[in-house]
Amino acid sequence: ARIIVLVSGSGTNLQALLDAIAADPDGYGARVVAVGADREGIAGLERAERAGLPVFVRRVQDFASRDAWDAALAEATAAYEPDLVVSAGFMKILGKHFLARFGGRTVNTHPALLPSFPGAHGVRDALAYGVRVTGCTVHFVDEGVDTGPIIAQGVVEVRDEDDETALHERIKEVERSLLVEVVGRLARHGYRIEGRKVRIS
Ligand code: GRF
Repeated sequence: ARIIVLVSGSGTNLQALLDAIAADPDGYGARVVAVGADREGIAGLERAERAGLPVFVRRVQDFASRDAWDAALAEATAAYEPDLVVSAGFMKILGKHFLARFGGRTVNTHPALLPSFPGAHGVRDALAYGVRVTGCTVHFVDEGVDTGPIIAQGVVEVRDEDDETALHERIKEVERSLLVEVVGRLARHGYRIEGRKVRIS
């Protein structure tokens, strides 16, 4: 399967996918064909370039509207003919143009146990709420914010001494392995989305 990964930051989830594929290129059943971003100058793009991958950047501010940006991102992504799109730390909401082409085959990873704490500050919100466990969620992207059908989740204990950074780093350890496992399964096996349930054959 051909995968496109969308990033906005450090790209450690991208790196985990690249490392897993490099460790077992035939067995993993997928390869990353390009990396897309919404901004320049991030470590995620450096990781892609270091791996010899094509990259593309579509910045919202370069377009007349969010809708035009969404269409441009969809076009740039479609050029690589992906089977699966992985949003890993991509900090923009994918719109109707993107979902018209890649809905049902775009997954996102979120550092909280959805439906709790959606949005851009899931780790901070969980910590502030005082939960004793949080975690991460890999889900299909729909038109909402972190609302699509859930594929898998991982649980992370919250420690009394945690601040947002420490907790997020511990979540990311679980998140990276969960994402590698889920993407590999989706790539190797068929899957169906039935309402809010995901069946991987
Ligand atoms: C991940 O925890 C992702 O869920 C969240 O931001 C983090 C991105 O990490 N949206 P990275 O860019 O993959 O290192």
